[in-house]
Amino acid sequence: MATIAEPEQDFSRLPELPAGIFTAPLKKPAHVGEDWLEPAQTVYSSDEDAIWNDLFARQMQVLPGRAATAFMGGLEKLNLDRGGVPEFGKLSEDLNALTGWTVVPVPMLIPDHVFFWHLANRRFPAGNFIRTRETFDYIQEPDVFHDVFGHVPMLTDPVYADYMQEYGRAGWKAMRYNRLKALGALYWYTVEFGLIQEVDGIKAYGAGILSGPTEVVYATEAESPNRIMLNVDRVMRTDYVISDLQPTYFVIESFADLYRQTVERDFDKLYRHLGPGFTYANTAVIDVDYVVNEGTLEYTLRGGRGSGAKPV
Ligand SMILES: [Fe+2]
Repeated sequence: MATIAEPEQDFSRLPELPAGIFTAPLKKPAHVGEDWLEPAQTVYSSDEDAIWNDLFARQMQVLPGRAATAFMGGLEKLNLDRGGVPEFGKLSEDLNALTGWTVVPVPMLIPDHVFFWHLANRRFPAGNFIRTRETFDYIQEPDVFHDVFGHVPMLTDPVYADYMQEYGRAGWKAMRYNRLKALGALYWYTVEFGLIQEVDGIKAYGAGILSGPTEVVYATEAESPNRIMLNVDRVMRTDYVISDLQPTYFVIESFADLYRQTVERDFDKLYRHLGPGFTYANTAVIDVDYVVNEGTLEYTLRGGRGSGAKPV
C-alpha cells in the first residue's frame, strides 16, 4: 500500500499503470493514440449545430434561478451561446486565459486512468459527437452537449478548476489504494450531481443535473429527494444509480468547502480510512447526516424512471 512518503506522481506523460490494476476493457478506436484524443474536433453539420442551439435554448428555460451563480457566470464568460457547437480551439483559448484549462475532443468514454491523467494536466476530455433528434431527451453516453455545456462553465471558477485537477491526481492514487469506486461516488455526488447552498437557496452545479431539463427542477425543488450537507467520508461510502433521478443529493457550502473536505483533508488519508465497497444505500439518511431536507422519496418508491412516476 502507498505511503505518504511516496513521491508525487509525474503527470507530464501518461504514467505506466501500476501492476494489478483493473480498468474497464474499453476498445480503443484504431485512429486514436494512448492519450485517446481525436486528431481534430468533428466538423458538425448544420443539423447538428441546430441540435446544440435547441438544447441550449431548452436549458435556458429552466436554469436561471436554479443553476449555481458560478455556472451561469461561466456560460456567459465563455459565450457558449455563440451559435452551434462551440469550436474547442477558441473555447480552450478563452478558458485557458481564465483558469489554465483546455477542452480536448475524445471519441467516446475513455478509460479512467487516461481521464484522470488529462484532468491532472487541466485538460477536460469532451465527447466529440452530439446526440440526435431521436435521443434528444436522454442519452447514457456523454456527448458534446453534456460535456461542454454541463461541465466546462464550472471550470471558469478558480477553486473548482483546482478541485478538478486534484481530482485527476487523486484518481491515480485511488487506483493504487483500490478505492476507485469510492472516488467515483465522490465524482458522482459533486461533479455530476452536486448542489450548492447560495444566499437565496439551493442551486445546482453538477453537470448531470445542468445538462438536462428534468433533473434541475427535481434536484432543487421537488419533495422526493433527500438533500444532505456534503460529508466526504460518508459520500465515498454511498452507492449511486446512473440511470435515474437521484434519491439523494449532497449540498456544499462553497467550492472552497469542497476543496477543503477533499484536497486539504488529503486523499491519502481519506482512502486509508475507507474499506472497499459501499456501506450506505443511496436512499439512506444516517445519524451523522446534517439534513437540509429529508425527502419523501415518493418518486423513487413509486418506481422511478419507466414507471410513470412523476418527479415530484
Ligand atoms: Fe459528465
